[in-house]
Amino acid sequence: MGVVQPVQRILILLFCSSLVGVLPGADLNESATNFPDKSNDVLAAGSWARGRRIFNGNLAKCSTCHRLHGTGVAVGPDLSDLVDANYEQVLRDISLPEFEVAKQYLIHEVTLENDTPLSGILRISGDDLLVIDRTGKRSSAKKKTVQKIVPTTKSFMPPDLLQGLKSQEIQDLMTYLLSAAPHMPNLAPNGPIRRSRQEVAEILADANELSNPLRPLNIVLVAGPKDHGLGEHDYPAWQKVWYELLASAQDVRVSTAVNWPSEEQFENADLVILYQKGTWDDRRAKDVDAFLARGGGLVLIHWAIGGGNRAAGLARRIGMAAGIAIGYRHGPLDLTFDGAHAITRNFEAVRFYDESYWHLDGEGTDVTRLATGIEENQPQPLIWCREHEKGRVFVSILGHYSWTFDDPLFRTLLLRGIAWTAKEPVDRFNDLVTIGVQLKE
Ligand code: HEC
Repeated sequence: MGVVQPVQRILILLFCSSLVGVLPGADLNESATNFPDKSNDVLAAGSWARGRRIFNGNLAKCSTCHRLHGTGVAVGPDLSDLVDANYEQVLRDISLPEFEVAKQYLIHEVTLENDTPLSGILRISGDDLLVIDRTGKRSSAKKKTVQKIVPTTKSFMPPDLLQGLKSQEIQDLMTYLLSAAPHMPNLAPNGPIRRSRQEVAEILADANELSNPLRPLNIVLVAGPKDHGLGEHDYPAWQKVWYELLASAQDVRVSTAVNWPSEEQFENADLVILYQKGTWDDRRAKDVDAFLARGGGLVLIHWAIGGGNRAAGLARRIGMAAGIAIGYRHGPLDLTFDGAHAITRNFEAVRFYDESYWHLDGEGTDVTRLATGIEENQPQPLIWCREHEKGRVFVSILGHYSWTFDDPLFRTLLLRGIAWTAKEPVDRFNDLVTIGVQLKE
């Protein structure tokens, strides 16, 4: 882009602010983004993100008996293969659990020798009997102390679960159960590198318990018009997928903006995440300075660190920025990590397949280099974080290819970076690491 004259700049600002908004047809925080199957009207009428919150929440209690997409307790059957299941049949299974009950899920009334009554499903192992009641309470007894066991016709799954829900909430729950989990539209699912369950478990190990209740967070996801080829720099797809992921977490409100957040979004945000072709101008400088000064968190992914011939200004806020003379390379990136930081806990050396940048503007002397890769025989910072006034900044150069966002190890780094930047425990979003991700066993 050439030099922008003042009048042009005003026009550009007007243009940009008119684009600030949310996804088409969406109400800011509670939108149904119709992910992912727009062709299915019934499922499109619900929101996957809201459905996940309801599933895991206290009203419907589904996750006290079912495990789905990495959360919940697996006492009842696995629900992960309901994608493409018959809608009416699933709705019937939820509203009339007694319609068809497999034997192992029938409630049994148990009386012990000392006349203690127990009621629930039975699990027998050796000499021991375990009775699990509908609240999840587990009572164990020696088999020989059992006086009487009487099966009922009742299912372990309570019949009245949907009664407390509004019809839109039931719709959301159905969309959550019957849709594929959000993931990037990939040319090659997960890209050239596939992680194993074991690898992911090792990286996530030693997580701290989260506080209860959680601090409510207000997150703004900022994208821009797509550039580059298929499967690269897909900012709009990222915005949709990460809207669903983050909005499906408890106590998180997510809104979206194209190009730049509105004044109101900046005022209310705890965290602004940018994935777009970056630019730097006076308006951005003013907004970012005010935001970081009051303790806001800023996350920049990949080309969002572009500042053109004004990159030095961006670099002063985020540590380093991409000017007009950067070096770059697409391909395998062998990253080594500073394991001392909470964001990189359990990371030592990992190969990703993405793009590196180097020859950045800014010294980067006041950043914490979380990950580096070798380019031109020098370790180059590829992921870093920084404190700026009361605020925090997290930057990932990785993020060129769509598949990187579905790489659970990259997700871990980004989600920890997001949490850290919002001054939250880095493990807050662990449940989102493997959603929609294909793992090798
Ligand atoms: C107290 C435990 C419990 C709770 C709470 C519970 N379920 Fe169930 N659910 C079960 C059990 C046990 C079965 C299997 C019963 C059977 O064989 O009919 C089941 C069956 C199902 C089925 C049929 C799956 C299949 O493969 O047959 C669906 C769908 C389902 N539950 C969804 C839900 C949803 C959605 C919620 C929350 C609104 C929920 N469940 C809450 C225990 C529970």
